[in-house]
Amino acid sequence: MKIFLDTANLESIRKFNDMGLLDGITTNPSLMSKEGGNPKDIMEEITKIIKGDVSLEVVSTEYSGMIEEGKRLRQYGKNVVVKVPMTPDGLKACKHLTSEGIPVNVTLIFSPNQALLAAKSGAKYISPFIGRLDDIGKDGMNLIRDIKKIFDNYKDEDDDFKAQILVASIRHPIHVIDAAKIGAHVVTLPPAVLDKMLQHPLTDIGLENFLSDWKKLKAGI
Ligand code: G3P
Repeated sequence: MKIFLDTANLESIRKFNDMGLLDGITTNPSLMSKEGGNPKDIMEEITKIIKGDVSLEVVSTEYSGMIEEGKRLRQYGKNVVVKVPMTPDGLKACKHLTSEGIPVNVTLIFSPNQALLAAKSGAKYISPFIGRLDDIGKDGMNLIRDIKKIFDNYKDEDDDFKAQILVASIRHPIHVIDAAKIGAHVVTLPPAVLDKMLQHPLTDIGLENFLSDWKKLKAGI
């Protein structure tokens, strides 16, 4: 399973990239806005730091604006994936950009039908938002199970459903384990979730004990 970081924060991106953990980045207009500064500089810098796919989102809501913005976003780097919303114009833009060799991530997916249609229109990634479904009392992970089942049903046939399932709106480490058990292709994680995945109290206690035992030797390495 690929791990993407869901942020536009350069410090977090560098931190986890230096550990070799990042296969890509996803951003959205809210995440860009949170960072402030010049979004163009930030987007360009992200595409330089990260070798893998970097999703940058359009803000236009109509087809021609999405195409124009998508082409501009793509100029930030060859690894840019254009993120478009799951709307009729978004799917039309997905089809067009894909036909020009520009990969697309269709975002704001909340149902298996939306996933199926986004895949049909040629998306490289489809982004179901599981945390936001949990927030309204639905089981977000069930959506991932359904989409995986549907795509797997056709995996040996033509290339209608070749989109990768990019699990988004992840809120905690259990979401990551569940997504991996289901076989999702990608999870995109807020930095805080990735931090939590690294930690275990027994690791900290174990390290403390190793170091205090070694000190008793009064020797160097
Ligand atoms: O990048 C999109 C998605 O991950 C947003 O998550 O926490 O705002 O629902 P959230």
